[in-house]
Amino acid sequence: MYALPSLFLSISLIACVAFAQDPSWPTILLFTHTAGYRHEAIPTAISTITSLGNGSLVLSDDNVDSTIKSGRWNTNNSEDATLFNDVASLKQYDAIVFAFTTDVDPPGVGSLLNDDQTANLLEYIEQGGSFAGIHSATNCLYSYPAYGRLVGAFFTYHAQSQRVTLKPTTRDHPSTSKLPDTLTISEEMYHLRTDPRKLPSPATALLTNASAYPDPGGQRGEGNPQPLAWYRSGSLLTSGASALGGDLDGQTQCTGGGGKTFVTTLGHEIATWNNAAFQGHIQGGIGWLLSVSANDGTAVSTNGGSSSSSSSSPSQSSTSSDETRSSPSSASHLGASVAVLTAALGALFACTLAL
Ligand SMILES: *[C@@H]1O[C@H](CO)[C@@H](O)[C@H](O)[C@H]1NC(C)=O
Ligand SMILES: *[C@@H]1O[C@H](CO)[C@@H](O)[C@H](O)[C@H]1NC(C)=O
Ligand SMILES: *[C@@H]1O[C@H](CO)[C@@H](O)[C@H](O)[C@H]1NC(C)=O
Repeated sequence: MYALPSLFLSISLIACVAFAQDPSWPTILLFTHTAGYRHEAIPTAISTITSLGNGSLVLSDDNVDSTIKSGRWNTNNSEDATLFNDVASLKQYDAIVFAFTTDVDPPGVGSLLNDDQTANLLEYIEQGGSFAGIHSATNCLYSYPAYGRLVGAFFTYHAQSQRVTLKPTTRDHPSTSKLPDTLTISEEMYHLRTDPRKLPSPATALLTNASAYPDPGGQRGEGNPQPLAWYRSGSLLTSGASALGGDLDGQTQCTGGGGKTFVTTLGHEIATWNNAAFQGHIQGGIGWLLSVSANDGTAVSTNGGSSSSSSSSPSQSSTSSDETRSSPSSASHLGASVAVLTAALGALFACTLAL
């Protein structure tokens, strides 16, 4: 007579566990706070990144790098700037992703993080944290040169969203390895004040423009071929004698940063997020950042702490001293099994209450 209740209990447990986060996976903070302009694509971007991370959106082998395909991550989305009030809470995340972040309009009037919160983000990076920027991540925190170095360059203007053809500039990276030779989508093409390839720790461009399209013109400091997405490894905050211009030269006390960055200026259009090639670009970029690689095809998570040993990492690893600093997440390895047990007990408790 106890068969039925225990069957319900089992089903409820399975249901609860299926929706729980997996503490053995790395966790990203997906920060979508907007102090100004708010993009329509934000909800679609959040669900796409979350689903790629938790495995509920599985791309075909044609669209996602094989070393990243089965790597998983937890996505904690937030718009709460107070999460940046102390470095210790930021260090719980294996990477911080700024997607569609914007300053108060017009840019420069006010920023989405205050001075202390921005300093904590930069401290997280100095201690080895990794960062991804999506679309208007290049279009915020203009008064912080060290943030500009982190994201690679500040935005200047964009052409009207329209049909454009893009092409990868390298396939030696999980974010572009499966992109077609030409990708035609409707997108906003971003122009930048400076060239992220001229930073002391230079960016490698991943994607460029391949078609003629009407462009109003304006300040274009991004160089050729036009970088629309890029990655960097190590010395993420270091300023240098590379004559970047006043934009990125200040805040020289912020230096080093042995982690990695992946930045894509695309993603304005909701349709872009539903494009499997772009989804593979995002999964490859975030997966590379977290070193979620699985050469044997089984799900492997390195929990971000061992980024320097990633087999999928392009050979740009820096030997600078900041590489030897430990990643913010390394302590999470120690707590992983405790966390699994805690999560299981938590799920049991929650589900028992639900009954
Ligand atoms: C994965 O994330 C998506 C998008 O947020 C969510 O709808 C889905 O329930 C999640 N799946 C699991 C198994 O947690
Ligand atoms: C991420 O979200 C999960 C689920 O809400 C929560 O249990 C976990 O503590 C969060 N992680 C961090 C680092 O805040
Ligand atoms: C985009 O690239 C193509 C090919 O290099 C070039 O012909 C075109 O002028 C570029 N378009 C713009 C607006 O820069």
